[in-house]
Amino acid sequence: MVDEERPGAQQWVPDKADIAELAGAAAHCRGCELYRDATQVVFSAGPSSSGLMLVGEQPGDQEDQRGRPFVGPAGRLLAEALTAASIETTSVYLTNAVKHFRFERRGKARIHKTPDVGHITACMPWLEAELKTVRPAVVVCLGATAGRAVLGRTVRVGAERGTLLPGPEKLAPAQVLLTTHPSALLRLRSSKDRAPAFAQLVDDLVTARDAVRS
Ligand code: URA
Ligand code: SF4
Repeated sequence: MVDEERPGAQQWVPDKADIAELAGAAAHCRGCELYRDATQVVFSAGPSSSGLMLVGEQPGDQEDQRGRPFVGPAGRLLAEALTAASIETTSVYLTNAVKHFRFERRGKARIHKTPDVGHITACMPWLEAELKTVRPAVVVCLGATAGRAVLGRTVRVGAERGTLLPGPEKLAPAQVLLTTHPSALLRLRSSKDRAPAFAQLVDDLVTARDAVRS
């Protein structure tokens, strides 16, 4: 049964489109209800020729307002980690599993709300089209939502992070690597906890970088 609120994005995804055309089409997507309260779609950033694709969860408050992924606090931390891993930030293709911001209003604030599996599934046709177009050698999943989208199963980031995993058939020949979402680092209170978590994220990005080059 097709859920009327969540028919999924497929009917909005054009065939044989490049990334700019996909991004343009995504602005009209009504594949789930998230488009209604969000300001705009946030598609992707970075060159479609990149061998390295990074997949986040969903746009945050600032991304929603500016229409670009990873421009808020998590994005700044990610940029720091990429630099520490000797990866040029602008050389990476950056996207999200879910393309509209999901949030709850609390007074004037908009509080991030993790997308449900239903949102991930509804939005998946966009990510599939991106994977087919970019054909990255390595896909880094930042956190469990991205891992779930790319691998099509529940993942445990703590247990599975840091090793190269074979991509599912539809992604071939990409390898997949799970790592911590930079937002999770931001939630760690003390710098004592943050430093090793940051070092681990950098290590994982180095593993991905080396796998792209080999
Ligand atoms: N967190 C994400 O997962 N993606 C963004 O674009 C910003 C924050
Ligand atoms: Fe479409 Fe994804 Fe936005 Fe839902 S979140 S409306 S599926 S682009």
